[in-house]
Amino acid sequence: MTAAAARPRVDARAKVTGAARYGTDRTPEGLAYAAMAVATVGKGRVVEIDTAAAAAVAGVRLVLTRFEASELKPPVYIMAGGHAVQSLQPLLSDHIAYRGQPIALVVADTPVAATEAANRVCARYEAAPFALELDDEDAEKLRQPEALPVPALADIAVGDAEAVFAGSEVRVDEVYDHPKQAATPMELLGCVVEWRGDTVVVHEGTQNAGALRNGLALQLGIDPADVEVISPYLGGGFGQKNSLQPHLGPVALAARRLGRPVKFVMTRPQTFHQGSFRPASRHRVRLGADGNGRLTAAIYEVDQETSRHDLFPAMYTEAMSRLYGVPNFSGPTRLVRVDTQTPGYMRAPFESPASFAFESAVDELAYAVGRDPVALRLANDTGTDPITGQPFSSRHVAECLRRGAERFGWAARDPAPGSMRADDGSLIGWGVAIGAYPACVAPAIAHVRAGADGRVVVAVDGHEMGQGIRSAITFLVADDLGIAVDRVTVDIGDTRVAPQHLTAGSWGTASALPAVHAALRELRARLGVAETGMLDVGAAVAAAGQPTVEAEAATLGPGQPPEMLDRSRAGKVAFTGPVYPGFTSFSFVAHFVEVRIEATTRRVRVPRVVSVVDCGRVASAVTAASQVRGGVVWGLGAALREASEPERRYGGFFNATMEEYVISVNADIGEIEVDFIDEPDPLLNPVGVKGLGEVALVGVVPAVTNAVFHATGQRLRRVPITIADLL
Ligand code: MOS
Repeated sequence: MTAAAARPRVDARAKVTGAARYGTDRTPEGLAYAAMAVATVGKGRVVEIDTAAAAAVAGVRLVLTRFEASELKPPVYIMAGGHAVQSLQPLLSDHIAYRGQPIALVVADTPVAATEAANRVCARYEAAPFALELDDEDAEKLRQPEALPVPALADIAVGDAEAVFAGSEVRVDEVYDHPKQAATPMELLGCVVEWRGDTVVVHEGTQNAGALRNGLALQLGIDPADVEVISPYLGGGFGQKNSLQPHLGPVALAARRLGRPVKFVMTRPQTFHQGSFRPASRHRVRLGADGNGRLTAAIYEVDQETSRHDLFPAMYTEAMSRLYGVPNFSGPTRLVRVDTQTPGYMRAPFESPASFAFESAVDELAYAVGRDPVALRLANDTGTDPITGQPFSSRHVAECLRRGAERFGWAARDPAPGSMRADDGSLIGWGVAIGAYPACVAPAIAHVRAGADGRVVVAVDGHEMGQGIRSAITFLVADDLGIAVDRVTVDIGDTRVAPQHLTAGSWGTASALPAVHAALRELRARLGVAETGMLDVGAAVAAAGQPTVEAEAATLGPGQPPEMLDRSRAGKVAFTGPVYPGFTSFSFVAHFVEVRIEATTRRVRVPRVVSVVDCGRVASAVTAASQVRGGVVWGLGAALREASEPERRYGGFFNATMEEYVISVNADIGEIEVDFIDEPDPLLNPVGVKGLGEVALVGVVPAVTNAVFHATGQRLRRVPITIADLL
């Protein structure tokens, strides 16, 4: 790695010193604090609500149990063309759709008073039966409708998978179960809302300031121009903060009523019942192959939970149909309605559970035909998108596998399960899996201002979730102009400086960088300097005879229709990919995992992981490697720790605290070696970047479970793996 490539995160210092201000860090003058009382039944109706005890708590200013629909309109679900994490707006009716749904909002002078008062709200319910899981009697199963405004939702099918599978020499047919998982970003959901005259100013950690702005305006019946949303940093988003939350409208109305700024921070247990989460899914994978393990057919069926009130689209087959050159593929998907808040996007929402199922099945195939799992994967690689017949814009799966195997020392692996042991008697297992994630693009608008002082300020569409987008933009500008990193300021996540579209789907950097790149071309044109090469910014601006020179550019993805820019400006989802005119674009990864299983306790440890990623050009080496490590750690948690358990008696989730919802900690994490192919993608955009954030996680779970099989001979088709599974 060169010195330039190893540049630290530009906001590292601000983040560790506390100088970086997160949404709910704000404490404007006169601040009041909100807390929520929530439903304690799994479904039903509020019959009676008593707020007297709550109102009597010293310092309480407001107890709200119900808004008029004229005051607060219900939002439209983001995946139905709106702005919100779900269509159900609490506090508009007596209907309880899920446990943990807010029934009252309390505002007080201190957070302690607000919390105490919220706990004193008393409600009587008429309870109704509820469904919580795929197999529950009341769970409604439906074929995934194709009318949702998301591309590629139609069931993917090519060739005649059923017939070819039936006639295949070797067949794998297994079912894999993935549990519900909670997103647990360090930063809790919350906001600080302040009215300045008719303008409402929102500070909230969000991946989608534009949706908050436009969605809140619609809910309150005001002009989006009168809403400012500011979100320069998130303490983790992971998809949970991808749009308008149900708390924002009520908190904004409370602030207006009180004439005071109001802060709301959701409690951690409430987050489990109100934040979006990864729904449970069941995967039946049928693979047909010849005697050498060359895949001829795959039938990949998925059932995924959604809520009673929304259809959370399931897109498991999109990436799995591109892992290998399978000529006959079908992927029918069903949604299953249960009584929870609407589940949602959570890092590699479909691709990670899908990879657990699909890459486990591929490992099973490798053992069925007696072929090394790496060799079998190499033999099934393809340069052509099997679904569209188009070439991939770039695809370095084979190189990821070869380089990873080399770095890991895969050649020393004895393929027989249970054959490798450590000195202390632990079983050693080595597993491999690959991953893919669609390389999508959203429209983006970038504004660049160069000053005679040699400084450059960039205002662009994008949100810093910790993934390093601010660093990637800064380095692009510094390198393009040949100026020092500290001459560049990047303003993102702020509706006051640029329209803000959803940062998700791993398209953030791949959307913002092309816009900034285009704005820099425009800036150079305005300065009358060469299109590339080092620039004395201060001198060039001075020569133009002005204190500053500004330029703006709006970019679209390849073949993306211009009306996508209007959708984006309206705060609606507007992305294209992974299929573009003439090519298909995915990011890829290969993970190699070593597990050690203690002989007596059967405790599973993961001492080392090697991950090699193909994400196009690496825009910020340090933050990119960090992102991959984060994905690997998450995958270890998904394989060995994480599951949200349904609460059968009272509805919702049983384990709704950080004590009981177990994620990986430092002691769980061994050595994680990260390497990048770092070849610019030649087609997706002029900067050569694809996405990275989510592909990092895809394939980690099956690499672990495949390693456990190698260690023990036990094929576990349900995660997380527990000690009990291995006794
Ligand atoms: Mo991501 S789960 O698309 O924020």
